[in-house]
Amino acid sequence: MNPGRMRSLLAFTLFLLAFTPALANPVGSDKPRPPVAAARDPNNERDIERAVAALLKRMTLEEKVGQLHFPSLAFPHQPQLEAVRRGEIGAMLNVVDPRFIRAFSNAARQSRLGIPMLFAIDAIYALKITFPPPLAWAATWRPELAERAAFEVGREARAVGVNWTFAPMVDVSRDPRWGRVIEGAGEDAFLASAFAAARVNGYRRGGLATSVKHFVGYGAPEGGRDYTGTEISTPELLDRYLPPFVAALQAGSETVMASFNTINGVPVTMNRKLITDLLKKQLGFDGFVTSDFVAIGELVNHGVARDLEEASVLAFRAGIDFDMASGGYDLALAKAVRDGRIKTSEIDEAVRRVLRVKYRLGLFDATPADFAALPRPVDETSVRRSARDVARESFVLVKNDKSALPLTAATPAIALIGAAADTAAHDHSWWGPAGHAKPVTETLRQAIEKRLRPGQTLNYAPAFADACGRKYLDKGAAIAAAIRSDIVVFNVIEDCDVQGEGVSRTKLELSGRQQDMLDALAATGRPIVLVVETGRPLVLAKPDRQADAILIAWHPGTEGRTALAEVLTGEVAPSGKLPMTFPRSEGQIPIAYNTLPTGRPWTGSRYTTGYIDEANTPLYPFGHGLSYTTFAYDPIILSQPAMSTTGSIDVEVMVRNTGSRTGSEVVQLYTRQLVASRSRPIKELRGFEKITLKPGEKRSLRFRLAAQSLGFHDDAGRYVVEAAPFKVFVGGSSDTAVTTDFLITPASARGAPVRSSGSGP
Ligand code: BGC
Repeated sequence: MNPGRMRSLLAFTLFLLAFTPALANPVGSDKPRPPVAAARDPNNERDIERAVAALLKRMTLEEKVGQLHFPSLAFPHQPQLEAVRRGEIGAMLNVVDPRFIRAFSNAARQSRLGIPMLFAIDAIYALKITFPPPLAWAATWRPELAERAAFEVGREARAVGVNWTFAPMVDVSRDPRWGRVIEGAGEDAFLASAFAAARVNGYRRGGLATSVKHFVGYGAPEGGRDYTGTEISTPELLDRYLPPFVAALQAGSETVMASFNTINGVPVTMNRKLITDLLKKQLGFDGFVTSDFVAIGELVNHGVARDLEEASVLAFRAGIDFDMASGGYDLALAKAVRDGRIKTSEIDEAVRRVLRVKYRLGLFDATPADFAALPRPVDETSVRRSARDVARESFVLVKNDKSALPLTAATPAIALIGAAADTAAHDHSWWGPAGHAKPVTETLRQAIEKRLRPGQTLNYAPAFADACGRKYLDKGAAIAAAIRSDIVVFNVIEDCDVQGEGVSRTKLELSGRQQDMLDALAATGRPIVLVVETGRPLVLAKPDRQADAILIAWHPGTEGRTALAEVLTGEVAPSGKLPMTFPRSEGQIPIAYNTLPTGRPWTGSRYTTGYIDEANTPLYPFGHGLSYTTFAYDPIILSQPAMSTTGSIDVEVMVRNTGSRTGSEVVQLYTRQLVASRSRPIKELRGFEKITLKPGEKRSLRFRLAAQSLGFHDDAGRYVVEAAPFKVFVGGSSDTAVTTDFLITPASARGAPVRSSGSGP
C-alpha cells in the first residue's frame, strides 16, 4: 500500500478509536466566534494585504509559528484540538470526515484570533467516483477534459470540507520505471504545461486551493527509483522541468509543494536558490511553499543536517514556509527567533504568505454555517458523466492489425479473458479518502454483454484467482473459451500494488501470470485483442508480436469499463494519443521523443549510436494512437518563409479523414532548430488540436508559431531566441509528419506563402 493511502486509512482508523468522545460532544455545537479579520473585499489584493498586515501585528510569536505548522492527523486528537484552540496549528492533512473538519474549524475559530484552517488531502483523481489517473487525462490531449475532471474531484472534496489539494503533480518524466508518472502528464513540457494550467483551473473552480508539485526536477530520479537524487543542468531544468510549474502559477495555483529530491547534490527542501531566488523572486510567486511529507525531517537522512532542529532552520532559510508533518517548525522556529538564528521579519514574511492564501480563499469570510451544512451532496450523475467522457477519450489504440477492432456482428463468439474483466474491486481511489461507500461500477463483462448483437455470444473465463493475474484459477478453461470463440479479448492489468508513489520497477512486462496466459492464448491461433490497464508505459514488445490489437486503457475508473465496452464495440472510436513513449525494453530507459541529435547517427555500423541487442526506436512513440479510420495530411502552407526574432508565422495544414468512419485525430505540431549555439532536440511539440472528421471530410488547421516561443535557456539561465533555420512538422504522432522549413532572421523578412514539398502519409 502506498504511504498516502496508508496514512488515510490510519487516520481514519485512529479517528474512530480516538475521536469518538469529541464527536459525542460535537465541537460543532460550540459557539464559534465570528471571524475577526475579514478583508473588506476578499477579491481586492490591497484589502487583503491590509488585513494580513493588521492581523500579523496582533499575533504572538507562537501564533505565527502555529500558522506554519501542518501536522498530519495523528493520535491523539484531543491535544491537537487544544493546540488548534491555542492558535498553534495552521492546517491539517488527511482529514476527510466532515464532522472532523467541522470540529477543527470551530476550534480554530475559538482561538484568540480565530484564524481559519486549511484542510488538505491528495484530491487528485478520485474521491467517491474514480476518474482515470492524470496520465490518462493527458492521453486525451484535451486539456478541457482535465479541467472538468479536476473540477469534479475538487467539488467532491470541497463537499466534505476539504479546501486545499496537493495537486496538480506536474513533474515531467521520461522514466516509466518511476511509478509516479501516473500522476503527471508524461514526458513533454509543452503538453504538461497545458494540462497543468487546466488542472489548476479545474480544482480551483471546484472550490479548492491547489498545490502544484513537486518543485522541481522530481521526475528525473536516478535509475527511476523514487526519492533518489537528480542531476539536472540549468538549461534542462528551465526548458524541460520548469515550464509546467510556470503554467500552473500563471493559472493561479495558490501554493507550491517542494520536492523530496536533491538536485545536483542539494536537497530541494533546503535549496534557497530554487525556492527563494527562482520561485519566489524570479517567478514572482507570492503564495506559500509547503514542504513535502516529513521532508524537513528527511534533511537529516540526506546528510545535510544533524537533527530536526537544524533541518528546520535550513528549510526555513531556504524559503519553505510550511512544514508538512515533520513537526520541525513547531519544535525549532520560535527558539531560533529567540536565539537570533532567524529574524522575526522572516517569520512574518512566511506567515504573510500563508495568511494571504487564506484570505484569497475567502476562508475568513466563511460563516460557521458553511461547516454546519457539511457534507453537501454532489450530483453524482454529472461526476459520472465527466468520468466517462475522460475515460472514452483517454484510451489509446496502439495497434490494430487486420481491423481486429472494433468487434463487429461478424464475430459471432467473443472470448473475454481475465478476472479484471469481471470486477471493479481493483478500482481503488489510491489517494482518495477512506470512509466512502464504493460506488456502483459496471464491469467490462457486464458492459460488453449489454452490447452483444443478436446471435452473438460472450465466452467469459476469469483465468486468474485475482484481478491482477497473480495466480491462476483455471488456465484450461480460459484456453477452452478462446478455442470456442472467433476472437479473444484479454483484459490485463499492471500489478495492482505497483502504481504510484514508492513503487519503482525494473521490469515493466506484464506482471504475474498474465504473459504466460497470453502465450497460451496466442497458441490457439485466435485473433487477440489485448486491453491493458496501466498507470505507466509498459514493455509490450512480446504482446505486440502476439496480439492483433492493443488498447491502452490506463486505469479507467468507475465509468471506465462502460467506456471500454463502447470503444471495443465501436460505439465510440478511440482517440487518445500517448503522452509518454512506450519502450521496447527497459534497457532503453530513459527514452523520449525529444532527444538530442548525435554526432554519430545510427547507420547500422558499430561506431554509430545504438544498441547491439535492441533497436533505438521505441515500440510506440510519443503522440502515437490509432482510430478506427485513417487520416492524411496535405503539405504545410506557411504564411511566410521567415520571421524575425519578435515575429510569428502561421502554419496551415489540411487534414482529411480518408477512412470510412467518423473519427478524431490529434493534430500535432513540432519544430526543430537545425543550427543553434547548443544542440537542440530533434523534435519539440509546439502545438496540438483534437478534431473530429466524418468520412471524406477535411479541415484546415492553423497554428501560430511565435519566434519568442522557440527559444531555450543557456548555461547561465538566460532565455535566447536565435536567428536560425528551423523545420516544422505536422502529423498525428511524433514520428509521422509532413514537414517544411522556415527561418528566424535577426530582422523581419517577409515573403509570399511557401509550400512544403512534404506529402501526406
Ligand atoms: C507525496 C506528495 C503528497 C504527500 C501528502 C508525499 O509522500 O510525495 O505528493 O502530496 O505525500 O500525501
